[in-house]
Amino acid sequence: MQHSNLSLPAECVLRKATSTDQWSIRWLVFSAKLDPTQLRWSQFWVIECQGKLAACGQLRNFSGLQELGSLVVAPAWRGRGLATFLTQHLINTATQPLYLECLGVRLAEFYTRFGFVSVSFPDLPPSLKPKFGLSQLAKKLIRVPVVFMQYQQS
Ligand SMILES: CC(C)(COP(=O)(O)OP(=O)(O)OC[C@H]1O[C@@H](n2cnc3c(N)ncnc32)[C@H](O)[C@@H]1OP(=O)(O)O)[C@@H](O)C(=O)NCCC(=O)NCCS
Repeated sequence: MQHSNLSLPAECVLRKATSTDQWSIRWLVFSAKLDPTQLRWSQFWVIECQGKLAACGQLRNFSGLQELGSLVVAPAWRGRGLATFLTQHLINTATQPLYLECLGVRLAEFYTRFGFVSVSFPDLPPSLKPKFGLSQLAKKLIRVPVVFMQYQQS
């Protein structure tokens, strides 16, 4: 399903990140304990609310595909549709087949609403396997509930 008529709270704007956002982005990503690789500010989109960075997300580049990642909303701004708005925007902005990895059923269901479907590790494209292989190992060894997903246009 494609989300339509999405909107942001009146005090928030979506924009491309600039170099001045880089430490705020790192702070958001590190405090959410997300993947610390490819945190290049130029790949990010952010939502600014009342002059402060409230959310970020990015498209990482791999050979022949992109990964939607680093999706974080600052705790004070959660539950108001920011992640939904940003995720739909990143999907619309992607220029390559789009993949992601997430932890747990609730997040997998969140991404399913946009048209992502679960994909098994063997079916992932070769250029993603070195990166997602670590998660796959954790999934097998210590049952970390990681889910790999691929965007399927409806
Ligand atoms: C997950 C997250 C980005 C959602 O941001 P948000 O702006 O509150 O989300 P929205 O208001 O647009 O949408 C709410 C949906 O987000 C999902 N969600 C919210 N909190 C969640 C959580 N703690 N765990 C998993 N999914 C969550 C749910 O699907 C929820 O829908 P529901 O209330 O109908 O269940 C935010 O909680 C966050 O930054 N978490 C920490 C970082 C993270 O886990 N990022 C995802 C990496 S794959």
